[in-house]
Amino acid sequence: MKNVHASPHPLVAHKLSILRDKSTEPRKFRELVREISALLTYEATLDLETEPRQVETPMGVAQGRSTKKELGLVPILRAGLGMVDGVWDLVPDAQVWHIGLYRDEKTLQPVQYYNKLPTLPTVGVCLVLDPMLATGGSAAATVGILKDWGVTQIKYMGIIGAPEGIEHLSSQHPDVPIYLGAVDEKLNDIGYIVPGLGDAGDRQFGTG
Ligand code: PRP
Ligand code: URA
Repeated sequence: MKNVHASPHPLVAHKLSILRDKSTEPRKFRELVREISALLTYEATLDLETEPRQVETPMGVAQGRSTKKELGLVPILRAGLGMVDGVWDLVPDAQVWHIGLYRDEKTLQPVQYYNKLPTLPTVGVCLVLDPMLATGGSAAATVGILKDWGVTQIKYMGIIGAPEGIEHLSSQHPDVPIYLGAVDEKLNDIGYIVPGLGDAGDRQFGTG
């Protein structure tokens, strides 16, 4: 599907297998979420605009480049939180704006409980972070919030996506590219990704 990028990186595949393993403990799980997020950041930022920047080296003048637009990370609480450090490893100056959503267990619809965005956008590009793209409801709602805020360039970065969630997010927001570590088989009858990794929030935070 156009605008959907499943990582071809062998290290992502390797780390993702350990992440999926049900015997992986929260401490290791968090470490892997961070490392996979850093690897995916490389792929999700390949087309960021840059502008010329001249710098003086100890030996002379170099014509360098710097990124043009301010990058904003938007982790969807809770599970998206663990991805922030991995992106910060590569983009330490990125702003972070939190959006709190949980999925209603029965309807699977996203319910918003936290949003402190200021009136005017402070960033030029937003990277929405959430490890799991299941039905796609949470991701699509978050992108909608960011568009209402006034951000015109938005990307989604997740670790595992289900075909149903990719379809939903792409149809609601065809302009938003989707970067994933892997695309899985399907959703089960309670909206979990199969084979997936279980509940990404619970596995990071040791809850559930
Ligand atoms: C999980 C996950 C996504 C959402 C994905 O969050 O982190 O935010 O479900 O599902 P969707 O694509 O069907 O919307 P959850 O609601 O479990 O909250 P949590 O991160 O606080 O555990
Ligand atoms: N949220 C998760 O954490 N895991 C899933 O498989 C689906 C939604």
